[in-house]
Amino acid sequence: MPTTALTDIGTLVTNDPALGDGPLGIRRDAAVVFDDKTVVWVGDSAAAPAADTGVDLGGRAVLPGFVETHSHLVFAGDRAEEFAARMAGRPYGAGGIRTTIEATRAATDEQLAANVARLMDESLRAGSTTVECKSGYGQTVADELRSVVIAGRFTDEVTLLAAHVPPPEYAGRADDYVAMVCAEMIPLCAPHARWIDVFCEQGAFDREQAHAVLSAGIAHGLVPRVHGNQLHQGPGVQLAVELGAASVDHVAHVSAADIDALAGSETVATLLPGADFCTRNSYPDARALLDAGVTVALGADCNPGTSYTTSLPFCIALAVRDLRMTPDEAVWAATAGGAQALRRTDIGALRPGVRADAIALDAPSHLHLAYRPGVPLISQVWRGGVLAYSK
Ligand code: NIG
Ligand code: FE
Repeated sequence: MPTTALTDIGTLVTNDPALGDGPLGIRRDAAVVFDDKTVVWVGDSAAAPAADTGVDLGGRAVLPGFVETHSHLVFAGDRAEEFAARMAGRPYGAGGIRTTIEATRAATDEQLAANVARLMDESLRAGSTTVECKSGYGQTVADELRSVVIAGRFTDEVTLLAAHVPPPEYAGRADDYVAMVCAEMIPLCAPHARWIDVFCEQGAFDREQAHAVLSAGIAHGLVPRVHGNQLHQGPGVQLAVELGAASVDHVAHVSAADIDALAGSETVATLLPGADFCTRNSYPDARALLDAGVTVALGADCNPGTSYTTSLPFCIALAVRDLRMTPDEAVWAATAGGAQALRRTDIGALRPGVRADAIALDAPSHLHLAYRPGVPLISQVWRGGVLAYSK
């Protein structure tokens, strides 16, 4: 098997405390060796074993590839004008999703797939080596089915967002829509997805409706994740914990009881500060969550409505500046935290045995991700041992 050695790494983030300092397991002057898929050796650069290919990183930082756990890439059109109106003072509401539903229904499969390909490539160049992808802009059986099938051409982490917002033909009849989702959409789409998701929010779906959708998904072998507490306090967090969801995402408006429930659970809180930035929503209280012992992940939430960015480096900068996470906490959340939110142990770290997903920065340490906001620092990306991007 061909091997590759990355040597002369200035700062290596392993996310394994047994391999280095602190929770990030940081090593200086380090090397990583991988075979065609898997990390086989981590240690001092001077002691690196010989490999078929050597890459001298000249003191650059190396991190595990980012694990993007929340994105909505199967859509058509954009909502730049809605964004401009929002920046002029119009509030964001769940109803804007219907604009994208209309455009998505009108698009061909090829147009939708081309859009996913474009955004997957953009994510890769921003350092994401695993990208979850949701459906949710079809909201008919046929359109959700083609959305999960198209997503599955690009990632194994496919989420059926069966109930995003009641579509126009179900206006005022959200219960009927939920009944259709449970009886028809989920049975047909479940074989093409790993996760079931619902938008539990005022103007979208209430607790009872969200519970019905998630339970139907679970009955068909899907694992729940929830859009919860994005715009208002509500039942999303508690529902996610009650149903053993892998993650509850947004979590911008929570009570002390919500934080307690998360802290005593296996459910990850995935924070999406790009969405709060682009909607002028309040940011989540990351400090309260972290200080209570909640596991926190960071996602970019790429979608045409609330967060049209694929950049986890940008979200790390927001998390540090505005959510008051430390740079180490933010980097952990975008890598190991994401892996936990996807219940994966083979990604999100750099230690022997994991998938060889690594990024090199044009910078000597991971701190520069927050310290140099808006600068494209990703110089190389290896995915599964293969050089997938180089500046
Ligand atoms: O994660 N909150 C619901 N879903 C998306 C927004 C969708 C849209 O506005 O198109 C989100 O923010
Ligand atoms: Fe979302």
